[in-house]
Amino acid sequence: MTELLEPRAMGQSLVRRDGVDKVRGTATYAYETDVEHPVFCHPVQATIALGRVTAMDTAAAEALDGVLAVLTPFNAERLASTEDVEYAVLQSTEVAFRGQLIGVVVAETSELAREVADGITVTYAEQQHDSVLRTDHPGLYAPEQVNAGHPTDTAEGDVDAALAAAEVRIDHTYETQMLHNNPIEPHATTALWDPGAEVPLTLWDSTQGVHPDRAAVSQVFGLEEEQVRVVCPYVGGGFGSKGNPHANVMLATMAARALPGRPVKLALTRQQMFFLTGYRTPTIQRMQLGADSRGRLSAIAIDVVEQTSKVKEFAEQTGVPARMMYASPNRRSTHRLAPLDVPIPSWMRAPGECPGMFGPEVAMDELAEALGMDPVRLRILNEPEVDPDTKKPWSSRHLVECLREGAERFGWDTRGPGRRREGDWLVGHGVASSVYPTMRQATSTAAIRYRGGRYVVEIGAADLGTGAWTVLPQIAADALGVDVADVDVAIGDTRYPIASVAGGSSGTNTWGSAIVQAAREFRGKYGTDPRDGDEASGDVDQATMDDAHAAYAFGAQFTEVRVNADTGEIRVPRLIGVFAAGRIINPRTARSQLIGGMTMGLSMALHENSVFDTRVGQVANHDLAEYHITVNADVQQIEAHWLDEHDPHVNAMGAKGIGEIGITGTAASVVNAVRHATGVRVRGLPVTLDKVLAGLE
Ligand code: MOS
Repeated sequence: MTELLEPRAMGQSLVRRDGVDKVRGTATYAYETDVEHPVFCHPVQATIALGRVTAMDTAAAEALDGVLAVLTPFNAERLASTEDVEYAVLQSTEVAFRGQLIGVVVAETSELAREVADGITVTYAEQQHDSVLRTDHPGLYAPEQVNAGHPTDTAEGDVDAALAAAEVRIDHTYETQMLHNNPIEPHATTALWDPGAEVPLTLWDSTQGVHPDRAAVSQVFGLEEEQVRVVCPYVGGGFGSKGNPHANVMLATMAARALPGRPVKLALTRQQMFFLTGYRTPTIQRMQLGADSRGRLSAIAIDVVEQTSKVKEFAEQTGVPARMMYASPNRRSTHRLAPLDVPIPSWMRAPGECPGMFGPEVAMDELAEALGMDPVRLRILNEPEVDPDTKKPWSSRHLVECLREGAERFGWDTRGPGRRREGDWLVGHGVASSVYPTMRQATSTAAIRYRGGRYVVEIGAADLGTGAWTVLPQIAADALGVDVADVDVAIGDTRYPIASVAGGSSGTNTWGSAIVQAAREFRGKYGTDPRDGDEASGDVDQATMDDAHAAYAFGAQFTEVRVNADTGEIRVPRLIGVFAAGRIINPRTARSQLIGGMTMGLSMALHENSVFDTRVGQVANHDLAEYHITVNADVQQIEAHWLDEHDPHVNAMGAKGIGEIGITGTAASVVNAVRHATGVRVRGLPVTLDKVLAGLE
C-alpha cells in the first residue's frame, strides 16, 4: 500500500493551462514551428498493393526550378537499422501494401512538392495481393504473444464440457470493423539536420512521447540519443496513432539529412493517414457462454481472428478483457492472426479492450435475454471475488456500484420489455460494462527546481489534449505541500528528463509517480524552506509498483436509442456512464476524457467504418467526407459520472487512468439498446440502418 497524498489541489476543476493559447491560436504545433527558410516535403506512395518498383522517372522533376531533392529507393541514404520494416523507408523496392512510401519530393513550396510528387512516373512489377480477412484464411497463425505482453491463448477447466452441460448456451460470432484514428492535427514534422551542431538533429514532431520518438529515430539513423532533440509542446490529438512514430517521421528525417541546414516540413494529408499511421484491426470474435438457469456462468470462451500486415506483426489483444471480467470456473481465450498485404495496424484508443469489450458484452446481453433476466442483474451475479485470470485480489473493483448508480441515474427500472413505440420511433435501453487496466510504465523521471519563489517541474511528458499541462502541477503541488499557483511545469521536450509515452492511460499514473518521488527527494534534501537553485529529481521505478493486486478501472454505460420505424434511422438521445477510475485529479479534464471516449465509442457503434476495398487493397472512404465521425449533431445528452474511489494500491495519488475506459463497452451498450428497441440483434459493427431495417416489421 502506498501512502495517499492529502488532496488539496487534486480534485479541483482547474482550467486548462494551455487553453488560452490554444483558443487564441498562439499554441505552436509541429508543422507551424517558426524556422528560417523552410522547405516542404510531399511523399510519393505506391499505387499497387503488392509487388516491386522497377523504375521511377524523376529526371524531369529534379530539373524543375524550386525542386531541391527527389528521394527514392534508388538514391536514398542507407539506414543504420532496418529491423523495423515500417521505419525502413526507401530501403527496398518491395511494395508490401498500397500507399506505402516509395519516395519524397522536397521543394521550396508545398504546392510544388505536391504537384511534382504526383507527377512522377513509377513502373511496377505487380503481384496478386491478398487482403481478405476470413476465419478460414490458410495463413492463420498464433502469434508468440499478443500486445502488451499477454499470452496468446489461455485455458482453465474444461470449457467444452461445461458448455455441453450448461442449461443455457450462447454461441455467436461478432465482428468489429476497421477503424482509423483521425486526430484533428494530422501527423506532421518539422526537421532540421545541422551536422556541425552539438545536437545535429532536431525534430518538432507531433507525438505522444518525445523520448520514445527520439529513441526510434536515433536507432533507425544510427545516431546517439544525445544527438537528437525532439520537441512537442502541443498535440492536436493522437489516440494512439502518435504513440509510436510512423514512417512519415523517418521520411521527414531522411529529407532533412539530404538538405543539411534547411529545415524541412512534412505534414501528411488526411488521405495519406489512411495508409500510413496505423488503424484498429478488424476483428472476428466467436463468443460462447454457458450458464445455469439462474444465470451463473459456467463457461466463457472467446476465439478471436483478426488481421495483421504480413510485413510487421500487430497482435491486438482482443481476447484479454474476457479473461477477467466475470467469474466462471471454465474459461478459454485464443487469438489467431491472418497475415495480409495491408497497411500496418497500430494503436487506437483502448487497443484490445475496445474491440474486446464488444463481443463479450453483447453476448452477456444475449444470455440475459435467453435467461429472461435483467442484464444488469446478470452482470452483478457473475461478479468475481478475485481476478479470475491471475487469482490476484483486486486493488479496487466497483463495477457493481457503477452498474447500480448508472441504473439509478438512467432510470433503468422504467425499461420494460422493449419495442416501445413513440410516434414513428422505437425506443430501447441498453447497458454494457467498461474496463481498462491501470498501467504504469517502467521509466520516467521528474526534476523539481526552485527558482524565484516558484517550483518548476520538468518531465518530458506529452499532453495530447488530455490535460497533462494542468494535472501534473496539481499532483506536484500536493506532493510538495504548496499552492498549485506556485508550480510551473515544463513538458514536451527531450531536454527534460525521460518520460514514457502518453499511452495506455498511463501518463498520470507514471509521470505523477515520478513527480511524487521527486517532491519527496526535494523535501528530504531542502526541507520546506528551499533556496534559489535547489533541485532534486525522482524516478518511477518498478520497486514502487504493486504487483500483488489486479488493478483496473471499471464502468457501466447506459444507452437510450430511438430507431425510426420506417427508415431505420438510429439516434442516441441519452448515453450515461458511471466510472470507478480511482481519484479524479481534475474533474474538468477528466469529464472531457470520459465523454470523449464515450463519443468515440458511439462513433464506433454507429458511424465510423473504414471500408476496405479488397480488390485494390485500400480504404475506399479514405477522407473525412466519407469516413463519418460522430459530430455534435449526433450526440445529444451524454453524461460521465464517477464514484469517489481512492485506490491505495496503484500510486500515491490513488488515481487510475481515464483516457481510454470511456470507449470500452460503449458500442455494445448501443447494440444492446438497438435490440431492445427493435428486436433486431446486430452482431457486426457499425450498426447502420440497412442492418436494422431488414428486421423491422
Ligand atoms: Mo492509447 S491507443 O494507449 O495512445
